[in-house]
Amino acid sequence: MHFIDEKFSVFENYESNVRSYCRKFPAKWDKAKGSFLIDIKGKKYLDFFCGAGSLNYGHNNEYIKKSIINYMARDGIIHSLDMFTEAKERFIRCFEEKILKQRGLDFKIMFPAPTGTNSIEAAIKLARKVKGRHNIFALMGGFHGMTLGALALTTDRYARNASGTILNNVTHIPAPYMFDFNTVQYMESLLEDDHSGVEKPAALIIETTQAEGGVYPFSNEWLKQVRDFCTRHDILLICDEIQIGCARTGDFFSFERAHIQPDIFCMAKSIGGIGLPFAITMFRPNLDVWQPGEHNGTFRGFNLAMVAAKASLEFMLENHIEDEVKRKAEFVERYIKEEIMPLDKRLLYRGIGLIWGIDFSYINDEMALACCKECFSRGLVIELAGRKDCVLKLMPPLTISNDELKEGLDIIKNAIISVLDR
Ligand SMILES: Cc1ncc(COP(=O)(O)O)c(C=O)c1O
Repeated sequence: MHFIDEKFSVFENYESNVRSYCRKFPAKWDKAKGSFLIDIKGKKYLDFFCGAGSLNYGHNNEYIKKSIINYMARDGIIHSLDMFTEAKERFIRCFEEKILKQRGLDFKIMFPAPTGTNSIEAAIKLARKVKGRHNIFALMGGFHGMTLGALALTTDRYARNASGTILNNVTHIPAPYMFDFNTVQYMESLLEDDHSGVEKPAALIIETTQAEGGVYPFSNEWLKQVRDFCTRHDILLICDEIQIGCARTGDFFSFERAHIQPDIFCMAKSIGGIGLPFAITMFRPNLDVWQPGEHNGTFRGFNLAMVAAKASLEFMLENHIEDEVKRKAEFVERYIKEEIMPLDKRLLYRGIGLIWGIDFSYINDEMALACCKECFSRGLVIELAGRKDCVLKLMPPLTISNDELKEGLDIIKNAIISVLDR
């Protein structure tokens, strides 16, 4: 028998069964500040989930918040489709001058509709149009969104099964950690073998660190090989920066560490600064083969998000967030290695910057979920990732203080001790 908790009855009675995170984190949220979520009773929870990577600069970041309050207070235009606005100009200039040019990146900016999956749809549509090929290579374990084009790239079976249609025009390539063979050579042979049955793709899409796939950072060497492979075969390289961009891995763009440049890259989530929906698709200028309005959408001119996005870039630079992430990464790795790994020799860990995974798959399929629930009961919101949801994914705000970081790690350690003891 299922009892409806009175305080959640509106949701349980009227909101679709499709709701999901609220099942794992059954609180009614009221406020949020910095690294904390606060429920209606005033109980504080440390947030190691960060809106699935949308809140890199923390909840209600003061600097970003002030910029949008000021903008609204003077009745700055909020919605403008893709017409010219001051807010858009300022964002583009800031992104161009303070981020792209500094890194020698010459890219055009496109504003798709405001979510990650919209950015991916634009990227693959453009790649197919440029190359006149329909196939795309994507990696097993990759997550790129839930609309049909992006879902065809995504390998999660549960999500794919819900599509109700055929998801096609994608060839899935084993991720480098899956088998003991060279995945780049494998792609090479798919193209060279006239009996492979695989169509040459317009693009290869990757996350340089698979996030939802279970936190797998790919080596710089592998990323360089992939770049080289794409160049040699006239295939566009698309980097999905949606979850791991915006300094999450220690560099503003996750591909920087390998000294490679993609041909197209997708950003969403934290590019909106404070959790406002916002996405961009970036591509080399020679790929701009769009005709006016060929890829359209009503919510491509959300000026409030553009104001927040510009403020977040300023905040990121002024507070040296990339260096901060690298410093905190060392602390997290040391803590996991010295305090958590000794708890059970079947535990594994992986990560980079401020995205880390503790992998329970060699213990059993239930323990990661038990640990996630135990963390919640101890005041920490943390999500799962990977095959069978066996990986606890640590993704605190990049602005988290040292004490808060230690507090969250201590909760995880004690939660693991408690579930191992059961
Ligand atoms: C790497 C990656 N790409 C794309 C998406 C889709 O973004 P959205 O949920 O905003 O559509 C996500 C969402 O988690 C993601 O992690």
